[in-house]
Amino acid sequence: MTSTMAARATHAQSIPPSCVHDVYRSVNAWAARTGRPVARLDVGEPHFTPPLAVIEALAAAVRDGRTGYTPAEGLPVLRERLAAKLVEHNGHDTVAERVLVTPGASQGLSALMQSVTDPGDEILLPALHWPIHLQQSLLAGLRPRFYPLDDEYRPDLDALATMGNERTRVLLTNTPSNPTGCVYDADLQAALLELARRNDWLVIADEAYEDFVYSGRHVSMAALERDVPPAERRVFSVYSYSKSFAMTGYRLGYVATPNAAHAATLQVVQEASILSSPTPVQYAGLAALDAMSEVADNRERLRSARDALAPLAELGLIPRVPAGGWFALVDIDGLGTTADAFAAALLERDAVAVAPARGFALRPVITAGRVARVDADPASEHLVRIAFCGEPTQVSEAARRIAAFAAELAS
Ligand SMILES: Cc1ncc(COP(=O)(O)O)c(C=O)c1O
Repeated sequence: MTSTMAARATHAQSIPPSCVHDVYRSVNAWAARTGRPVARLDVGEPHFTPPLAVIEALAAAVRDGRTGYTPAEGLPVLRERLAAKLVEHNGHDTVAERVLVTPGASQGLSALMQSVTDPGDEILLPALHWPIHLQQSLLAGLRPRFYPLDDEYRPDLDALATMGNERTRVLLTNTPSNPTGCVYDADLQAALLELARRNDWLVIADEAYEDFVYSGRHVSMAALERDVPPAERRVFSVYSYSKSFAMTGYRLGYVATPNAAHAATLQVVQEASILSSPTPVQYAGLAALDAMSEVADNRERLRSARDALAPLAELGLIPRVPAGGWFALVDIDGLGTTADAFAAALLERDAVAVAPARGFALRPVITAGRVARVDADPASEHLVRIAFCGEPTQVSEAARRIAAFAAELAS
């Protein structure tokens, strides 16, 4: 009995690790082995820190003993404030009862997928996507399908229009996008919403980078259905404190559901998954909402960091300058190497860590409910993702080294 159980691979065992975590681990190991300081352009860890008020609110909550469980859906006072933020800032029509606090956007996304789908349903993911979206889909027992992107990394609407079938349940959108830096404008969002309506898909809109748009503005798809009766709405919006307030390790996010019925289902998933989000962190999140001016400062920091990538863009190495988010894709096509080899060599010779895009374009082949094999979209073989949220001087120095290495390869 024991040996049979040990021999049987579980569904989770068949799920590929996230490239972001893989690269992170291997760069840590390389740094420990060589003792060299590494320019970390592989992960989205900001160089700025949370507002002081956040730190003080967290400490005060711990000191005052405000450390017991909260309701699974979050502190009532925080949900009230988040609902007000969603109305004022994002143009939603919502109330606290439809907003759930989560330990990070990641957990909110995972819980949502479990809450609105059945195993075997299909989810539509962008061709280039954050690998955690894929893992979460697979963990929920979903079959991911991938919608193509155009030359600007925008969803290809014509292709998407042909993709639905009776098992397709969710369209996942991510703007500003990780890893492409693409920002979907209002027309595109309206077209996506219309497609979702026509096909009766739900939409999970990952808006973790909502506050980091450098050209244009962030449009929340849920705002486009604010005049639809709540019972007929289909957009779920997911937000994070990690990016806007540099609170990556605090683990705090929230989900705006379309109506009370969906909120009630998500609440059950959260009761089973988390019992509650960490209480002192929720008080820290409350304080953060009074420090919105720092978000604008953080955006300007990131804008400067993005602009420091101009030399790479001028060399044609970043053909699509990111309009938002924390990441850019470097295109090494024509340099006679692959993204994996480029990233490995860049680390070895210049101590610059980047993430080959292969891991953002995995294509699992699913047989009998298990991932039998994982391929990758060949179009990703010449792309590497760089994070430009690190220390600005380090980012521009790393960009200089990337440009020099590329020039060497080209000559
Ligand atoms: C697209 C996207 N969504 C969500 C997250 C994670 O947010 P959180 O830290 O709140 O879980 C990330 C983090 O990198 C991300 O890139």
